[in-house]
Amino acid sequence: MIRILPLLLILSACSITSGTKHAEERYFLTQVKPVLQQHCLQCHNGSLPPPALNLTNKATAFTRSASGRDYILPGDPDCSLLISAVQRGGTHPKMMPRTEVSLTEDQIGMLREWIEDGAYWPTGENGTLRMQKSGENP
Ligand code: HEC
Repeated sequence: MIRILPLLLILSACSITSGTKHAEERYFLTQVKPVLQQHCLQCHNGSLPPPALNLTNKATAFTRSASGRDYILPGDPDCSLLISAVQRGGTHPKMMPRTEVSLTEDQIGMLREWIEDGAYWPTGENGTLRMQKSGENP
């Protein structure tokens, strides 16, 4: 019995970890990815020359701007240039997205929370952003 106990503890710790990862992946897929795909990817898809932000996948997105700022700094939304850019006032020349549609307060809050919680971004297909065909609901 004494020998079995540590093994049980390890098993339960593992299941907690994978449960959290599952929740983070779900948050990315249902909240973060649709907003970035719908509002940012039409420009930030690699067609702007680096070091401009490229949101195609984690490796291209977790980079720095020409001024040396992290676009996404896990745990620190206020130091993440992505957040600064969407929080700029509507008349700011570098307000993002650079379209007539701004993000809602809820969407900005969601992105802030995502970065605050570590900015989980999966690899593989789930972590690959693609442009949405018009009319398609992301
Ligand atoms: C219509 C095109 C377009 C859309 C849509 C767009 N951007 Fe941009 N964005 C640009 C261009 C062009 C630049 C300048 C490129 C550079 O940094 O050299 C830029 C720059 C940025 C920068 C760097 C800002 C700075 O101060 O240096 C960030 C961060 C950014 N965009 C985030 C976003 C996010 C997040 C979205 C979606 C919510 C978005 N953009 C949507 C065109 C766009």
